[in-house]
Amino acid sequence: MKYITSILIVPLATAALTLGLFSVVNGQAKPKYTIKQIMKDALKGGLAKKVVGGEATEKEKIQFLDYAISLYENKPKKGEAASWTRLTGNLVTAAAKIAIDPKASTATLGKAVNCKACHNKHKYDKPK
Ligand code: HEC
Repeated sequence: MKYITSILIVPLATAALTLGLFSVVNGQAKPKYTIKQIMKDALKGGLAKKVVGGEATEKEKIQFLDYAISLYENKPKKGEAASWTRLTGNLVTAAAKIAIDPKASTATLGKAVNCKACHNKHKYDKPK
């Protein structure tokens, strides 16, 4: 029985990783913040600008990374999962590099926080 379970779990876990859906598949808690909160506090709120501008403190860089990871774990109402995984994955990687290395360039993050590129594909607008 143990053997059978592990045969089943491995491909499932792999699929979950590939799709970037672990939090959904293993039934674990929701992302720490909602997309709305992240937009308000991290992107529109000026934190992103500070980090990209190289003016953020160590703590703020970690805070931004926390928001980025949470965005990755969320699921937008609109757009393809693969596209979301790519866009938010880029954001997480860029934010992580900056948080780890004080000398890292912020140019990649500058591209990854492109509001319009992501909104065009994933921002849900209520039908009028
Ligand atoms: C990786 C994707 C992504 C990036 C990058 C992004 N956004 Fe968003 N944003 C979204 C999604 C998805 C929504 C729609 C949220 C929903 O459906 O609830 C949204 C919604 C919003 C909203 C409306 C929130 C609300 O109250 O409903 C604001 C404001 C916003 N974004 C600002 C920004 C700004 C400013 C930037 C750039 C500095 C930015 N976003 C970058 C994905 C992104």
